Amino acid sequence: MEMEEKLSALLEAAKAEVSEAETLKEVESLRVKYLGKKGEVTSVLKGMKDLSPEQRPVLGKKANEVRDEITALLSEKRETLEKEALEKQLAEEAIDVTLPGKQVTTGQTHVLTQIMEEIEDLFLGMGYQVIEGTEVETDYYNFERVNLPQNHPARDMQDTFYITSDILLRTHTSPIQARTLEQHDFSNGPLKMISPGKVYRRDTDDATHSHQFHQIEGMVIDENITMADLKGTLELLAKKMFGEEREIRLRPSYFPFTEPSVEVDVSCFKCGGKGCNVCKQTGWIEILGAGMTHPHVLEMSGVDSKKYGGFAFGLGPDRIAMLKYGVDDIRNFYLNDQRFLEQFKRKG
Ligand code: DAH
Repeated sequence: MEMEEKLSALLEAAKAEVSEAETLKEVESLRVKYLGKKGEVTSVLKGMKDLSPEQRPVLGKKANEVRDEITALLSEKRETLEKEALEKQLAEEAIDVTLPGKQVTTGQTHVLTQIMEEIEDLFLGMGYQVIEGTEVETDYYNFERVNLPQNHPARDMQDTFYITSDILLRTHTSPIQARTLEQHDFSNGPLKMISPGKVYRRDTDDATHSHQFHQIEGMVIDENITMADLKGTLELLAKKMFGEEREIRLRPSYFPFTEPSVEVDVSCFKCGGKGCNVCKQTGWIEILGAGMTHPHVLEMSGVDSKKYGGFAFGLGPDRIAMLKYGVDDIRNFYLNDQRFLEQFKRKG
């Protein structure tokens, strides 16, 4: 019988095609092709209306069988493909427990912070306070209050970034001298402070200049403070930074806020004073400026300069780090290059 043969042929064709399908998408289009509303089996069934009443149930049964069989073939194939896909995915995503773990790298304290912390520790141990000032400062505190009035020639060396004509980025940490002095109550004891922080200058950046660098200011004011106290203090600092055998020497200099003023050299830590490339054959390396606080600086802050006096010093951690570790370009400290910075990773 023609229609029955057609159905059998359809089943055979479906078997062949389903067995060759390789993707779920192909399986779905075979379902549409055979069983869909306009599919092959459906269109055969549409021809049933032309059959005699006896033939109809026979063919109807056959058609149902064919449809069920194709449905089963399709779902079997679908399952197989899904299983294969899952197995493939599991194989690809398998965790190889023998692979080494990802190393978590920790950073390190910046070398300049290390130097500053070392110096802070030394002075904290001698009873100093650590006072932080602000990087944005007024002209008045940055210059006037440390004896650098308008038109003072020494202002020339300290041009900076101005926010307004009166507000600027501080050129040194010395304004903290005035800010601390005016707050200090001498009935509570002497003033002993250091102040670390960033400072700014209108400098053209090169190997030894940076428009931003660091300073640590120090000041001690009390009754009967002498230059011997200054020298003893700075000698301790030099030994702490460059080794126990170091000596220091003071050379006369000029700063507007100290009188007398000195430039402080440390005996060369590389050659021990014999002369080498680090100390430029002199045996000495300049490390900081210092002096006895100018009475006018005390008076401007309301401190009686007949009764009280003392010393101040200012040093550059960048310069100390360059000397200590043989860094030949200050810009290295500010480039955030991990290869440079990790050389200064503290142990433990
Ligand atoms: N403020 C000075 C500068 O930036 C450094 C300095 C020198 C500070 C001598 C001091 C000092 O307190 O006594 O060049």
